[in-house]
Amino acid sequence: MELTDQAALTSGSGFWTTTAAGDVPAVTLTDGPHGVRLQSHASDFLAGRPATCFPPAVASGSTWDPALLRRMGEALGDECRALDVQVLLGPGINLKRTPLGGRNFEYFSEDPILSGVLATEWVRGLQSKGVGASLKHFAVNNQETDRMTVSADLDERTLREVYLRAFQRVVTEAQPWTVMSAYNKINGVYASQNHWLLTEVLRDEWGFEGLVVSDWGAVVDRVAALAAGLDLTMPGPDDTGDAAVAAAVAQGELPAEVLDAAVARIRALVERSRRATRTDGYDAEAHHALARDIAARGIVLLKNDGGVLPLRAEGQSIAVLGEFARTPRYQGGGSSQITPTRLDDPLTEITATTTAPVRFAPGYRPADDAADETLIAEATALAAGSDVAVVFVGTTRETEGADRADLDLPEAHLALIERVVAANPRTVVVLSNGAVLRTSPWDAAVPGLVEAWLLGQAGGSAIADVLFGRVDPSGRLAETIPLKLSDHPSYLDFPGENGHVRHGEGLHVGYRGFDAREQPVAYPFGFGLSYTTFSYGEATAVAHADSVEITVAVTNTGGRDGREVVQVYAAKPGSRVRRAPRELKGFASIPIAAGATETVTVRIPRDDLAYWDTRLGRWVVEDGDYTFAVGASSRDLRTTVTLTVAGSPDSRWPLTAASTVAEWMADPRGAVLLRDAFAAGGDSPLMVPEAGDEGPFELLGGMPLDRLALFPGSPFTIETVTDLVKRANA
Ligand code: BGC
Repeated sequence: MELTDQAALTSGSGFWTTTAAGDVPAVTLTDGPHGVRLQSHASDFLAGRPATCFPPAVASGSTWDPALLRRMGEALGDECRALDVQVLLGPGINLKRTPLGGRNFEYFSEDPILSGVLATEWVRGLQSKGVGASLKHFAVNNQETDRMTVSADLDERTLREVYLRAFQRVVTEAQPWTVMSAYNKINGVYASQNHWLLTEVLRDEWGFEGLVVSDWGAVVDRVAALAAGLDLTMPGPDDTGDAAVAAAVAQGELPAEVLDAAVARIRALVERSRRATRTDGYDAEAHHALARDIAARGIVLLKNDGGVLPLRAEGQSIAVLGEFARTPRYQGGGSSQITPTRLDDPLTEITATTTAPVRFAPGYRPADDAADETLIAEATALAAGSDVAVVFVGTTRETEGADRADLDLPEAHLALIERVVAANPRTVVVLSNGAVLRTSPWDAAVPGLVEAWLLGQAGGSAIADVLFGRVDPSGRLAETIPLKLSDHPSYLDFPGENGHVRHGEGLHVGYRGFDAREQPVAYPFGFGLSYTTFSYGEATAVAHADSVEITVAVTNTGGRDGREVVQVYAAKPGSRVRRAPRELKGFASIPIAAGATETVTVRIPRDDLAYWDTRLGRWVVEDGDYTFAVGASSRDLRTTVTLTVAGSPDSRWPLTAASTVAEWMADPRGAVLLRDAFAAGGDSPLMVPEAGDEGPFELLGGMPLDRLALFPGSPFTIETVTDLVKRANA
């Protein structure tokens, strides 16, 4: 192929298509992630043709059910084939580092295992239909403020264990056809020009076989991006960039093999895509029904005092209050915005369910955050005259491109809640929001609280399903709801300044940070009520060569069928590295009939127990006892089992001349050698410090051997140290 054609292939020909060049035809990539947004008007790149608007990831993530995500992926694949789309730009799996994140609604969780497990099934479902996924945004794209320029500055352990972990899982387990490189920099280097990220980690370590596509407009320097491992720059055309690529190859500045490899990957993507035939359509009714199932399963019941829920379908008059009941908020703004095939609203669905009177008042104007006394008074009167009041409130704006300023409900919504609950103590509040809201202190006065997120086009019926108990609420929080913003681990270092955001909380993202600082929260990670109750038996654990299995019997002790999400959190007491008090390692969502007991086994791959060892530059499973706490949330742990796990081979830290006396003494082999060296020191006044010696151990323990060797009276010389190092690491 001509060099110019090769170069042209590495950028798009338009917003959503690759370039056709030589014998390689073009393919279409489009957003993503919770629906297929195929541009419908040439003049408006955000307007899409109708497609099923499935629940955004904030809701699908709260299902904690990989099987549901797989079905969603399959359905999206069917819609892509009907719309002639070869790659769907999703899933988005960045972690919710801060509750203010403007795109949190597009992401699953603050936890990498939960995000990774769910996204893996989404990708498998989509790709089983012959349509490619685009795992995004790789990596550490956790804020919208300065998103195209900011440098996320963080240490390698945090990067590996928290921010890259979900990507690693999806890449190794599901091989997405493409990975989308993020806009931002990581430690000063643009993700799209980051050789370490795109080549050393993604391809060499994880074995990624697909293509790396840039986020739209992420590439600053086409040649640098190709050299780093990026294959396709979007959108296009970019004639200037194509010419620069061709010139760089012609002048030997960019190795021809690099361009060849990118072209080969583009060719492979095109060939793969062509294997799936286009279909005439898809079953829109079935997809709407699936969207409804997922939405209902993602709803989290936060409070249900006095059994105010479920509502009764007869003999109970209901005041439905708040404009969002009639005009639902069902997705966030930006590139993921889908034109739905139809739209359910809660008011219609509630009215259709009950035989008792339903009265509605809007309570506020949707675009106005200021309280309107007339509207509130009207709503309050309906509440006072009804058996139960259901108030729909939420955020009025959440969008890609902008982070939120605070966690608070609009003033008009807060005023409505306060007045309605004063008029009728049987009040249920239903929240519509893409990222967590502050619920304190007003939630104390409200007996019923339903976190209904942004639920997609079938959210209205899904809310009715849960309110009336047709579906037992089994959504669980995939992110912590803090009491207030300033409690959050990210608070002091968000959104950064002068082009940098420092991840000061390090590994302690989300619940890890709240738990480490023993802070109270409004609703903890993993939390969610059901209309029934569950009790847990005693957990047991078995270690296999490649996994650990935790088994527990769970009984539905209430009077209704329900579903429980069993969660397993691991800890490593006495670890040689700093760790969060507990980390989610596995989970299972299981239906349990009233009165029945189900035995659940959660398999934890051994790799998930590993931490990233910065001295060894690799993953290490630490040897010794681990505790596995099993329960219904990160703060409702019902049973704990301890299991001894064999460590990774050769995971001793290397001893160097700069290692301290204490480090030498902590290493069995080093201790023997060092004791001998001290003994050979003859008349040196310095004694080998043994743990427990008061004074000497502390004084000498912190000294690197090479520094000790320089002290007058030292038992050994720098030559001895060199020899010790050699023998210790032999
Ligand atoms: C977003 C991506 C999206 C792309 C194409 C970018 O602004 O960050 O998530 O896939 O646009 O719309």
